[in-house]
Amino acid sequence: MRIDCDQASLQLLDGQVVALPTETVYGLAASIAQPTAIASIFSIKGRPQDNPLIVHLSCKEEIFDFVENVPAGLDLLAKHFWPGPLTLVLSAQKDKVPSIVRAGLDTVAVRIPHHPLALDVIKKTGPLLMPSANLSGRPSATEPAHVEADFGAAFPVVDGGSCTHGVESTILLYQEDQWKIARQGFYSQEDFAPVLGYVPQITGTEGKRPLCPGQLYKHYAPKAKLLLGTSERCGYVIGFSSRTYPSGMTLFPLASMENPLEAARNLYSILRRLDLLGISKAWVDMDFPETGLWKTLRERLLKAAHTS
Ligand code: TXA
Ligand code: MG
Repeated sequence: MRIDCDQASLQLLDGQVVALPTETVYGLAASIAQPTAIASIFSIKGRPQDNPLIVHLSCKEEIFDFVENVPAGLDLLAKHFWPGPLTLVLSAQKDKVPSIVRAGLDTVAVRIPHHPLALDVIKKTGPLLMPSANLSGRPSATEPAHVEADFGAAFPVVDGGSCTHGVESTILLYQEDQWKIARQGFYSQEDFAPVLGYVPQITGTEGKRPLCPGQLYKHYAPKAKLLLGTSERCGYVIGFSSRTYPSGMTLFPLASMENPLEAARNLYSILRRLDLLGISKAWVDMDFPETGLWKTLRERLLKAAHTS
């Protein structure tokens, strides 16, 4: 069910869960002041309890209500990338951030989205928790119809049209005097280098306790089997409009090779369309660059195909 920002704000203040657009993907929102709503986010999504939530704020000053011991470089990162698709994992004031939000960790993830509708609602309600608005493990939602496909036509969603960025925020955390990428996202290593003065490394899931718990779980996966490679594998291909594929193949175009931004915008929609059409397997043309946003797209496709 489509609702407007005022209705969404009232429902959130009343302890309900609603879906909101952000520039990256749609989020399933609950107020940080509503414990029952926070608990229902986990049950609605089928999300494991040990996967913490991002606190979404409307301005940088608000982070000081929730974090302590801010590391070097935070001001620069905030100045360049907020509001926007960057999430920072910081030391939490544990009495201010409920344990369920942190999944019991000592840290809290914070982000200031730049979508006008999300900001409008956050200004009215205060801080919101917003995991991506999809059933756990499934492709994220970049349109209201994707949210309704996962949670039903009656689920309240603010219609912001298609998300302009299409992949999630990049998550940075500070460790051993350096910022590191805990989840690749819209911003890539190359985007941070001029601001930080070094290229932030991408952390893996090695070790007993991953730095970003969500990285452990199945993600972004359609029901269709994805065959990743650089040569033809079956009758359907997720590929590029600027490339020629064998005749008889049905192309789901991500974008032209020159346009990773558009490819990011289309990715989850295409994965969801395969399932809507009942397609059981599709070849993904992986012959694209290893840098910038392409690298994030590669990581998403590897996860969607259950290969990482
Ligand atoms: O673009 C986005 O970030 C979207 C939109 C809606 O803002 N949100 C999003 O949330 O992608 P979600 O819940 O789907 O992914 C959040 C990720 C998870 O992998 C989780 O483990 C990680 O953030 N995370 C949250 N709090 C953390 C913390 N304290 N330490 C490490 N990782 C954390
Ligand atoms: Mg997610």
